[in-house]
Amino acid sequence: MIGLDNKRIIVTGGAPGIGLGIVTAIIEAGGHVAILDLLPEPHPDCQALITESGKCHYFKKCWEKTNTNLIASGDITKPESLNPAFAKCVNALGGTLDGIVTNAGIGTDKPFLDHSLNDFQRVLTVNQNGTFFPAQLAVRQFMTQPIDPITRSRGSIVMISSQAASNKCPGHFLTAYGGTKGFVKSFCMQLSHELATVGIRSNTISPGYIETDLNLELAKIRPDVNYYFQEAPPMKRLGSPKDIAGGAVYLLSDAATYVTGIDLRIDGGMSAGSGLTR
Ligand SMILES: NC(=O)c1ccc[n+]([C@@H]2O[C@H](COP(=O)([O-])OP(=O)(O)OC[C@H]3O[C@@H](n4cnc5c(N)ncnc54)[C@H](O)[C@@H]3O)[C@@H](O)[C@H]2O)c1
Repeated sequence: MIGLDNKRIIVTGGAPGIGLGIVTAIIEAGGHVAILDLLPEPHPDCQALITESGKCHYFKKCWEKTNTNLIASGDITKPESLNPAFAKCVNALGGTLDGIVTNAGIGTDKPFLDHSLNDFQRVLTVNQNGTFFPAQLAVRQFMTQPIDPITRSRGSIVMISSQAASNKCPGHFLTAYGGTKGFVKSFCMQLSHELATVGIRSNTISPGYIETDLNLELAKIRPDVNYYFQEAPPMKRLGSPKDIAGGAVYLLSDAATYVTGIDLRIDGGMSAGSGLTR
């Protein structure tokens, strides 16, 4: 029942990390994926998946000439660059769409007083605009498609929020980042109400500390965070992108046709309280 046979799904920021874990699991479950990312080259594991599966398409940021000017295509933060790239994704998937995972996001991990306006606007633009507008394009596409008479579904939206939307994250400074992920969580809940009767479901996943470049790069600059990655989750380990991917496949699948407006927390127990003893 938890399969994605022939389902067509867009994943933003799917070239490395959590997004790549989700892309891999969608393909293993029988689905087809179009990835939208800024990276000129995807992670080597992603490249191998594209070459070997024949079910994965990659659209990166590139510059395209229109009649009047040059526009960037593939950056999810600006409608003028997102719209043409999104259309290419739907086209590559055969003209229909069953789901989207809005996963692309960036972090700021610094004390409140150190944030400049620029830091704040950057994280807001990527994490908020970069969730809102891809979801809007997906809903526009879903509404052109009929409701499946058996599942009563048109499409599923999965947004990647964060434990920082709901928990204190020991050892981290996440005022701006956590605020943007709180937006993702409440936006998604509001959207689930608005779309509940038209066959479109929308849910968030809130990951805990996951082993991706985002955290490995942070640990190079601030090695103290390794202590919190290992000790704060009651399960005493970092999660892996695979841990998040199973939840995404479930929420995208027909096993979840009666599930909308939830936040699925996959965080090694952090939502029950941190496991720190000091
Ligand atoms: N790693 C964690 O511990 C963790 C925990 C909770 C939530 N998250 C969230 O999960 C998501 C994925 O995180 P990750 O750790 O895999 O990050 P990552 O940095 O490994 O991957 C994020 C991807 O998003 C892409 N991206 C960024 N801005 C973009 C833009 N404007 N247009 C298109 N693509 C863009 C990047 O190029 C990158 O490939 C993020 O939303 C993050 O906030 C991560």
